[in-house]
Amino acid sequence: MRVNPGLAGVTVADTMISMIDGVQGKIIIRGYDIQKLAVHHTFEEVVYLLWKGSLPSNQELAKWKIRFKPNRIPEEIITIIQSLSVDVDMMSVLRTCISALGDQEVSFTQGVRLFYFMSSVTAFRYRYLHQLPMIQPREDLSFVENLLYMVHGKEPSLVHRKALESYLILACEHGFNASTFTARVVASTEADLTSAIVAALGALKGRLHGGAPSEVDDMLEKIGLVEEAESWMRNHLENGEKLMGFGHRIYQTVDPRAEALREVLQLEAGEEPWFQMAIEVEKKALALLKEVKPHRQIHTNVEFYTAAVLKAVQLPKELYTPIFAVTRTAGWVAHIFEQRENNRIIRPSASYIGPR
Ligand code: ACO
Repeated sequence: MRVNPGLAGVTVADTMISMIDGVQGKIIIRGYDIQKLAVHHTFEEVVYLLWKGSLPSNQELAKWKIRFKPNRIPEEIITIIQSLSVDVDMMSVLRTCISALGDQEVSFTQGVRLFYFMSSVTAFRYRYLHQLPMIQPREDLSFVENLLYMVHGKEPSLVHRKALESYLILACEHGFNASTFTARVVASTEADLTSAIVAALGALKGRLHGGAPSEVDDMLEKIGLVEEAESWMRNHLENGEKLMGFGHRIYQTVDPRAEALREVLQLEAGEEPWFQMAIEVEKKALALLKEVKPHRQIHTNVEFYTAAVLKAVQLPKELYTPIFAVTRTAGWVAHIFEQRENNRIIRPSASYIGPR
């Protein structure tokens, strides 16, 4: 029996949702280039595309926006947010609150509810920990505007809204990554939507997946000065550690999302010293990885610039992974629908090597 550690190179399903071309560095979502979607469309439109298979007409979009109106989260969830110990990290708070929703059927309505639920829980908990009043979402704001409004307590600038919207679109779907696969495995057992999302959140939390952006920030902080970057990173690699924000299972070239986010930042924060530093550290890291791992093609991944974009829109580090979870919910729900449409329980095999 041939074993593929980490399921590398194993194809487990046909999908109509997205195509990741790791050689050309392209992501196609239901026939559309993700970089174009990020420039020309809103988050609400891209969610429609992901779930329904085509971009909405003007009429369909008007109806969809009504469906996307914010919902207030129940009092008992607010009680949970306030009663969990201050040591409990944001992703655990999110996971706990979603679990508390109980079984939810797989439907578009529940999917949309989850976006607001997740962003409200994240913003409420953040403000609660900082002794700030919780802010409910407003009906006159878009989803992205509400996300920033609920955290900061003021309406975002157009530049911040555009920057965050581009990030949310670029990160909302990415094929059979670890968390999406997890969601599909749970959906394949015919468990409910909540269970599949809670499981996906658990997979996303890890530092090799959605936990990477805050670690990129930590790395840049520890490096401190560009002049120190090379020796710090060399030392780090010699200790058997990885450089966060680099490497990817699928890409043999630069992750197109990283390039797109770098462009967003150039407009948003081109002059900021921390952005200049990130660019310099990236160059040095790529040169070093080429020298230390000449047998591997290691490039910048989306997480390297995710940290920078979220910092540019003034979101705090502890919200990086929860906000990734908010947007990736779009992809998870699309995959849960697809799994349900033509379901067969996902149940691979293992090769036993213990005593008989
Ligand atoms: N720094 C240093 N070396 C690396 C890195 C890195 N960031 N990434 C891969 N390598 C090296 C490994 O040491 C290994 O070298 P070897 O052949 O000498 O043993 C080789 O490249 C292959 O690495 P694997 O970890 O086996 O690759 P895999 O496909 O299993 O893992 C992963 C991909 C998890 C993304 C990995 O590159 C990594 O850990 N990167 C850092 C964490 C990170 O940025 N994660 C975010 C990914 S994007 C996302 O989830 C949205």
